[in-house]
Amino acid sequence: MRTGSKFGVFLVKKYPGGSGSRTGGRPDSMVEIPHAWVIMPHEQQLWWPMTEITRFIMQRVSTPQLAAPAPDREQLERMFQCAVRAPDHGRLRPWRFVVLQGQALEALGAAFAQTQPEADEARQQRLRSMPLRAPMIIVTIARLDWEHKKVPVWEQQVAVGIATHHIQLAAKEMGYGTMWRTGEMTEQEPVRQYLGLEDHEQVIGFLYLGTVSGEPKPADFQSLEEIVEYRE
Ligand SMILES: Cc1cc2nc3c(=O)[nH]c(=O)nc-3n(C[C@H](O)[C@H](O)[C@H](O)COP(=O)(O)O)c2cc1C
Repeated sequence: MRTGSKFGVFLVKKYPGGSGSRTGGRPDSMVEIPHAWVIMPHEQQLWWPMTEITRFIMQRVSTPQLAAPAPDREQLERMFQCAVRAPDHGRLRPWRFVVLQGQALEALGAAFAQTQPEADEARQQRLRSMPLRAPMIIVTIARLDWEHKKVPVWEQQVAVGIATHHIQLAAKEMGYGTMWRTGEMTEQEPVRQYLGLEDHEQVIGFLYLGTVSGEPKPADFQSLEEIVEYRE
């Protein structure tokens, strides 16, 4: 096991109460505070102290197999409170959310099918059933200001993307699974019409949401060597 000395120092400073370690080994504070040690399965195998929050983020995975029950209204409101804490240049609050369940999912499926009127019945049926892969979909929508002098559209889209991810994290904390999907349906006219999108609005995600069914895949980790550069 290797422990970077930087992490040892960090631990001592950040979490007084444990003796920590500058020389490697497991600092005492790891026992006293809610940390976990995880192993990164790549060539730079590195152990480091994680808080519950970092561990939670690193263990998040998408879960395409979703069943009832879906979150209730109170849980959804907590998720949306997290969503709107996304960083947001200019505080434009460029988001809105549409929650679909029950017949609304069937109506979305009908809109999907309308996008391909020439398709055979099997394809139509497949399109109709796509939104039924979860008991609930939150459609996250960007309300774009194309004329904004300071905040370009891509920054507004990023803000809504982060809001969408905050919902994923909040849902996980409440014990639910999510799967963020997009695809061509986000831009099709029958779908836009069903959702009541205005011209300046764009679907950022169909966030499928529900109770995880089946075994979630383990989180995978990427080697940092090729993607991170440190300069001093
Ligand atoms: C903006 C966006 C759109 C996505 N659209 C799709 C999609 O249409 N279909 C799909 O299978 N995955 C899509 N994904 C990826 C999945 O949501 C998921 O992140 C990916 O399968 C990796 O799994 P993980 O989240 O467990 O790492 C999208 C992700 C993002 C951020």
